[in-house]
Amino acid sequence: MTSGDIKSDVLVVGTGAAGLSFALYADPDIRINMVAKAAPAESSTQQAQGGIAGVTSSGDTFKSHIKDTLIAGGGLCDKKTVRQVVEAAPERIGDLKEWGVRFTGGEDNPDLGKEGGHTQRRILHHGDSTGREIEDKLLKEALKKENVRFYTEHTAVDLIIENGRCVGAYIIDNRTLKVKTFLAGAVIMATGGCGKIYHYTSNPDVATGDGVAMAYRAGAEISNMEFIQFHPTCLYSVRETGFLITEAMRGEGALLLNGTGEKFMERYDHRRELAPRDIVARAIDSEMKKEGVKHLYLDIASCRGPDFIKERFPTIYNKLKGLGIDITTDKIPVVPAAHYSCGGIKVDRRGRTSINGLISIGECSNTGLHGANRLASNSLLEAMVYGNVVAETIRDELKPVDLLKIKPWNYTGQRLPSHQVFIEQNWMEVRRLMWNYMGIVRSNRRMKEALKRIEIIENEVSHYYWNYLINNSLIEMRNLVETAKIIITSALARKESRGLHYNQDYPRKSKRYKKDTIIKRR
Ligand code: SIN
Repeated sequence: MTSGDIKSDVLVVGTGAAGLSFALYADPDIRINMVAKAAPAESSTQQAQGGIAGVTSSGDTFKSHIKDTLIAGGGLCDKKTVRQVVEAAPERIGDLKEWGVRFTGGEDNPDLGKEGGHTQRRILHHGDSTGREIEDKLLKEALKKENVRFYTEHTAVDLIIENGRCVGAYIIDNRTLKVKTFLAGAVIMATGGCGKIYHYTSNPDVATGDGVAMAYRAGAEISNMEFIQFHPTCLYSVRETGFLITEAMRGEGALLLNGTGEKFMERYDHRRELAPRDIVARAIDSEMKKEGVKHLYLDIASCRGPDFIKERFPTIYNKLKGLGIDITTDKIPVVPAAHYSCGGIKVDRRGRTSINGLISIGECSNTGLHGANRLASNSLLEAMVYGNVVAETIRDELKPVDLLKIKPWNYTGQRLPSHQVFIEQNWMEVRRLMWNYMGIVRSNRRMKEALKRIEIIENEVSHYYWNYLINNSLIEMRNLVETAKIIITSALARKESRGLHYNQDYPRKSKRYKKDTIIKRR
């Protein structure tokens, strides 16, 4: 350790529901440093609309929630993990209430929502802003904790591995560009998803695949990254990109219509609008391609009255009203958009990765819950359950950090960043090529082309990384490219179609591939 090092028992990278819930579940004598690239609340959690799935009503059963999760997961879920998460739901939801989270309908008459793939109404929600309610309340509680310290505007650059153990991370202060050494007995990756890799996404700007990229560079196993979930309904608007139109709207009867105003979902699946997301997104993609249109429509106005719509979906109502769309009378223009990464840093049922001292929770991890396609509203649940599980893991396995001697960051590049325009160009190219070649429908040719192009961009980014002073946007770009390459490589390895991975050249499932795709740096 040198004098400038910043030490704690646990370093948490990311401040969404996963990282924050860990901080709340951890023993109060464990010193925790939490790092966020922007303001702590800027996370995917914050933008989640639908809610949190869990068995809380007498008509529902664990068996049914487990079965729905397994069916959506296309044969790749880890059954024990599914059971672990589903059975823990009532307690974790109880904890959220203890921390002040309010669900619509209250304790006596909870209003349970329904989303694609669920056979029961089992989604607790706070209107259509459940994520914001959860993030706000968790953050408020975490800020009260004396053992938890927040570092905002700090971007993790790389993990520090000593003798095969993860002992910290180099982290840049975005305001001063100084790279600091954070040391800890354990590091928890809770960085969220990677939707920004795609041109259209529901994810916030911070979702650049940082956790997966860093863990990969450190030598951790990464699994199932080919399974990128496209949310069927994001708003199509030239004035606003990536605004989610919650699946709960279809749960309340909203219909998907094509350009000619025709309902079409029954041609694709008997569950129609409430089929699992992979099926609905592919159906929309196919209708759009058939008609050569830029978007389709979601219609709640002809199924529900204005009072219900305004009360149940106030965030969407107000947002769209501001854009000139009155959802109580107008159809909503929608397109699918990248929404969730079902794969991630491979972890066991205690949240441990393949590297000692490195733990991962939330969207950047792969616990085995989601398999080849996540069931709607299971992600906030997984974040809460694994936040709790990992608090236990840390209790049992935490190592001291006192004697470490880690070299300070080596500033290889001396020149100030002058490459912003190249970064912007590369960023645009990556997002376009991933959308066009690695989207909802894939083919061998498109994927090979994607790999070729991403390798060219990778070389360029690497040149900037090693020859210039680094900053937040260069670090994000590097992670974006790394993660994009992992997605392409994983997709090329899966020579079948399953769940969210659909390859025209192998349109069917194959028993040979009923297994996880594991990628590891050599
Ligand atoms: C939604 O509200 O449709 C998103 C919920 C989820 O992704 O689980």
